[in-house]
Amino acid sequence: MHTEKTTPVLVGSSEGVDTNARLDQGWLGRMNETLSPIRLAIVAMLRLFLLSILLFALEVPGSLCAQATYFSDVPLGIDWIIVPEDNPMSAEKVELGKQLFFDPRLSGNRSVSCASCHDPHKGWADDRKFSPGAHQELTTRNVPSVVNVGLHRTFFWDGRAASLEEQALAPMANPAEMDMALDELENRLDSIDGYRSQFQAIFADGVTAQNVAKCLATFQRTLVAGETTYDRFRGGHANALEGEIGRGSSIFFGKANCGNCHIAKIYTDHKFHNIGTGLNGTTQDRGLARHSGKSQDVGRFRTPLLRDLALTAPYFHDGSKATLEEVVDFYSEGGGKNPNLDPHIVPLKLTPAEKKALVTFLREGLRSKVYPQIEKPKLPE
Ligand code: HEC
Ligand code: HEC
Repeated sequence: MHTEKTTPVLVGSSEGVDTNARLDQGWLGRMNETLSPIRLAIVAMLRLFLLSILLFALEVPGSLCAQATYFSDVPLGIDWIIVPEDNPMSAEKVELGKQLFFDPRLSGNRSVSCASCHDPHKGWADDRKFSPGAHQELTTRNVPSVVNVGLHRTFFWDGRAASLEEQALAPMANPAEMDMALDELENRLDSIDGYRSQFQAIFADGVTAQNVAKCLATFQRTLVAGETTYDRFRGGHANALEGEIGRGSSIFFGKANCGNCHIAKIYTDHKFHNIGTGLNGTTQDRGLARHSGKSQDVGRFRTPLLRDLALTAPYFHDGSKATLEEVVDFYSEGGGKNPNLDPHIVPLKLTPAEKKALVTFLREGLRSKVYPQIEKPKLPE
């Protein structure tokens, strides 16, 4: 793998990690699950072959991956986070990005920070349906968690931002969120000695809105969680899935077909679907159509990642489901009524016991042992 020099970042405890399981976490790991000895030998050879390609790529930096590099200091189940070539990881940027993330001075009236809505004590999200911005105006969508956000390929519920760098300036510019003009942001941060010196040490052009975005994106890429029970099962611990979690996983990937869109191991297909959410009486959050302009995209939202759901209620882009039980009931009944409903959303007729097992899988089976535990840092003056 071609890596920029990555910086080890501690993201909570990885105690008890089995090294073999870690080695086995590669994306070929999944091929092990149901294969005969001959096939296993083929898989082993294939792995050696791919390993040699990866080693070759290491020798010739830039030849195979011109656009991106990888941040690979991640827990079991994640593999790596893609990092754009023009914003490589560095410890200094992570540190500065962390300060910016927690700093309410990034909002016009100095009242809200990114962490006000993406609160580390609330799963890096908010426990309210909609959240108040700098002027107490409510957001129009539910706050998504920024944990593992670096795994996404598009950002926001409707995917309207193409990178974390592009996304980062949106909440500041949005009057309903932080209401901060970007030239004022630059002036304000430049007048704080502790910020100016850090920006100057990292970037030739010092404090700019683009550099603020780069640091926020870099910090967020380190917010990785993994090593769930299901990750351990995929990593080779055949016994990890027992009891209700095991029954729930069979329903998730079997009868209920959730894995059709929430593809393991990161539980998204990076696509947009209409599952019947967002049609509120006659008003509809247009979802993907808001920026694609296509009528068939009305009500389509990006498939979210599903780890650590217990921490991030309420659910869906509109926070319309308060509990995982409600989410499962919703799917079991065939989603919401909607003219553009995705063909994979059909009534599942789950029994009460099946629903209970499915909820247990979502809540316990996808709970991360390694989770970003970060407190508000001391802010520069
Ligand atoms: C007032 C609350 C609020 C504040 C403050 C806020 N956000 Fe958000 N954030 C949201 C909401 C709501 C969404 C979803 C909006 C949408 O999809 O249209 C979101 C989406 C995101 C996403 C996309 C996540 C995904 O899954 O695609 C990222 C990343 C993010 N915010 C980072 C930040 C950063 C960085 C800051 C500070 C500069 C910040 N947010 C400040 C409410 C907030
Ligand atoms: C056709 C694709 C598709 C299928 C099949 C599907 N989902 Fe989803 N799922 C989505 C999309 C898209 C969203 C976001 C919808 C929204 O926010 O309005 C979502 C949202 C969710 C959420 C909310 C996550 C959050 O952070 O708010 C949960 C939980 C969930 N799905 C679980 C399931 C389960 C359990 C199943 C199987 C019973 C399932 N999904 C089947 C596409 C799908």
